[in-house]
Amino acid sequence: MINLSNKQIILGVSGSIAAYKSAELLRRLKEAGANVRVVLTTGGAEFVTALTFQALSGNPVHSELLDTKAEAAMGHIELARWADCVIVAPASANFIARLAQGETGDLLSTLCLATAAPVAIAPAMNQQMWANAATQKNIRLLDENGVLQFGPGEGNQACGDIGPGRMLEAEQIAQLTADIFHTGSLAGRTLLITAGPTQEAIDPVRFLSNRSSGKMGYAIAQAAAEAGAIVTLVSGPTALNTPPHVDRINVRSAQQMHDAVMQHADKCDIFISTAAVADYRPVHTADQKIKKTQNTITLELQKNPDILTDVAHLENAPFTVGFAAETENLEQHAREKLQRKKLNMIAANLVGEGLAFENDENALLVLTANTKQQLTLTSKFALGRELIEVIARHYQAAS
Ligand code: CTP
Repeated sequence: MINLSNKQIILGVSGSIAAYKSAELLRRLKEAGANVRVVLTTGGAEFVTALTFQALSGNPVHSELLDTKAEAAMGHIELARWADCVIVAPASANFIARLAQGETGDLLSTLCLATAAPVAIAPAMNQQMWANAATQKNIRLLDENGVLQFGPGEGNQACGDIGPGRMLEAEQIAQLTADIFHTGSLAGRTLLITAGPTQEAIDPVRFLSNRSSGKMGYAIAQAAAEAGAIVTLVSGPTALNTPPHVDRINVRSAQQMHDAVMQHADKCDIFISTAAVADYRPVHTADQKIKKTQNTITLELQKNPDILTDVAHLENAPFTVGFAAETENLEQHAREKLQRKKLNMIAANLVGEGLAFENDENALLVLTANTKQQLTLTSKFALGRELIEVIARHYQAAS
């Protein structure tokens, strides 16, 4: 089954009779779990109306580059950043020529230039136009520029010709789109990931906890599974759904998280500790609900085990990645933690009002003993994928 959960996709539709198949493609992408925004060129709008795509996607359709109303709602740069990938299906000969030349005269070509996300084209044109030297030259240029190409297929064409130039079927394009995210960079590797907050019980109804949502850890778990890893996620209480193909173990307290992690740690290749583990727990947990009979009460706390340190100090420790949430001196504090906890890598982020916790976006400074890489502000899902690729590279270099 095709899986595109939590993916944000721009579907570009340019002027070709195959545009009628884009409506079906849009449905497939949505069924696979993607959030899709359609960008329709003037040529595309000659074949299928914006209303069709709006109704099917549940989002407004974007057409004009210099439309003040649309720019106010979501500007073209914002749209380019929003996308996890851009799929142009159908890509007409005219659109391919514009893209190859790096033109910015219309919204779709501009978006393709402005995005850092993968761009793929599904060509659709008459077989003679496809075979033409000018088209083939443009295709080579796009290939050199890293634009992915889905198809074209061969067969009967709308114009009566037979040959290459048919747009691939919706199902095939949806599958190739999903394949963009399935990098295989951690194929067969076993990953153990902690996520979310922990809850330290005070009595049967009250606990100490923190504001971690678990979103970053879950995004990393999803990206790792998509990269081909066998993923176990040890999670504190969160409101999130388990990502596809991830094995989830639910825990509440830091001690339970510690026990679950230690059971699996010696069998994993990579350990990623994203959980916001409570540093302390109440010394005593009351058996019954504490009554408000006294004006002041004192809660005595004792330190929880440091899960990350314990894993990193195992005799056969996995490649160990920690997180550092800091309010100041990010690099300095993170480097100190990297050394003190004996980690292979640490991903550090600034926290505070409106930053990281509870937010859908984040940025990370990734440090190893002798490298430093800044992953800039983006959605936690995109960031999770970037981090997994960085981890895969360093893990391979280290093993
Ligand atoms: N961590 C852990 N177990 C704990 C506390 C933290 O596994 N009991 C992990 C977190 O998942 C994170 C890393 O340690 O990957 C950093 O946690 P943090 O609490 O920021 O670091 P500390 O060393 O506790 O330093 P401080 O609280 O003083 O900033």
